[in-house]
Amino acid sequence: MAERSSFVVVANRLPVDEVIVDGERQWRPSPGGLVTALHPVLTQHRGTWIGWAGGDGEAPEPFELEGINIHPVPLSAEELERYYEGQSNATIWPLYHDAVETPVYKRRWREAYRMVNQRFAQAAAEVAEEGATVWVQDYQLQLVPAMLREMRPDLRIGFFLHIPFPPIELFMQMPFRAEILRGLLGADLVGFQQRLAAQNFVRLARHLLGLRYEGQSIQVDGRKVKAGAFPISIDTADMERMAADPKVQARAKEIRAELGDPETVILGVDRLDYTKGIELRLKAFRELLADGKLKVPDAVMVQVATPSRERVEHYQTLRVKVEREVGRINGEFGKVGMPAVHYLHQSYSKQELAAMYVAADVMMVTPLRDGMNLVAKEYVACRSDRGGALVLSEFAGAATELRQSFLCNPHDPDGVKDALLRAVAAEPAELKRRMRVMQRHLRTHDVAEWARSFLNELGVPETDAAPDSEE
Ligand code: ADP
Ligand code: F6P
Repeated sequence: MAERSSFVVVANRLPVDEVIVDGERQWRPSPGGLVTALHPVLTQHRGTWIGWAGGDGEAPEPFELEGINIHPVPLSAEELERYYEGQSNATIWPLYHDAVETPVYKRRWREAYRMVNQRFAQAAAEVAEEGATVWVQDYQLQLVPAMLREMRPDLRIGFFLHIPFPPIELFMQMPFRAEILRGLLGADLVGFQQRLAAQNFVRLARHLLGLRYEGQSIQVDGRKVKAGAFPISIDTADMERMAADPKVQARAKEIRAELGDPETVILGVDRLDYTKGIELRLKAFRELLADGKLKVPDAVMVQVATPSRERVEHYQTLRVKVEREVGRINGEFGKVGMPAVHYLHQSYSKQELAAMYVAADVMMVTPLRDGMNLVAKEYVACRSDRGGALVLSEFAGAATELRQSFLCNPHDPDGVKDALLRAVAAEPAELKRRMRVMQRHLRTHDVAEWARSFLNELGVPETDAAPDSEE
């Protein structure tokens, strides 16, 4: 029987990667911001993390890794297709991102979503001690809070949505909309990235279920459900340290040399996802080359497009379109040994990404809609030299905080081109001033602060919630 915990995290993915050492299956921690932020709370409480270990079929037995109980949940091949690729990533993902691609609705996906959510809730009910705190993460698990409350009314339940929460008009498209909303209302606290998203949620509760609310507090069956904004962040100190490492600095120089020491390196780093605005960014670059406002080899673009959700049709179509555009630009503007766009459909270590950030004069983050966008924050944290310019979409959650970036509307191609040109031409003194303000913000608003503020609001005592301090 699995060990019981007073603090439980429930997320679609486990914070571990499988590695094969001498033909043997082993697990190592995967270095994500979320697990870094929650590690101190998890270790203090003999905490458990419930999630999918990747792959299909039987799940490994629960095990302990670096002080955290890891509790794998199995997904069959069919569930993977219906719950993860279907309902989560072909229905909810596009709908919550302003329907920038058309959401697909299928009854069998919904049923699988319900079943898998029930399995996660069941696992949490089994491992949580009497009166424990359970923190459920993200859009894949929106039914878990209500399912869990039904089984274990003694628990304190938090939910955090990492992606946007849509306005009422869009949410109302969803065939099982009331069930999703009731699922979320099973929590004591529902956290969002943005204030507007929290407002969408409380208004929806009144619109769809006739529930009363006061401020950000909704009355549900004699209980109070709070909604609030908790913008997620990065481990700023860790990112700063990594970027300052002489090896990373040397690698950044090497990258620039490998690119032919151009005057301007323009960088994009995104999952290959249609919400990220990769195509429009490439198009802006092509038009500036065609207008003669930028020239190869003085300016080159590096686009890292991390493989993602590759069996989902929207993602397959996007890959074809992005790769066609890259081919077109290189065909028209590249020279022998000097492509205009260096396109990389690969994953990298955090160090290599940090070196790319340090090497880039302009970072382009142009999503059509994004809950937060941590890449934008990572870029800022890595620029200890206070050089570099961030071009940032107004439709990324990060735009609320990173006001000194070169903000643009990604739906307006001329606006994107203009922001890119302004970033390229900006004086070093101006870039420094902008970076300084943004870096100061990220030092106080890091991922540990995010976790602390959410858990405080949920009622987990401050001393327990506060992660170990570096100072
Ligand atoms: P999303 O959660 O939608 O993927 P974010 O920008 O918020 O977008 O977070 C992406 C995270 O993935 C960042 O921490 C970034 O450093 C990391 N990442 C992006 N591309 C790669 C890559 N090619 N290799 C390794 N890590 C990556
Ligand atoms: O930020 C949203 C999110 O779905 C996270 O939950 C997840 O870690 C990331 O994007 C990558 O997506 P996936 O887990 O589908 O590969």
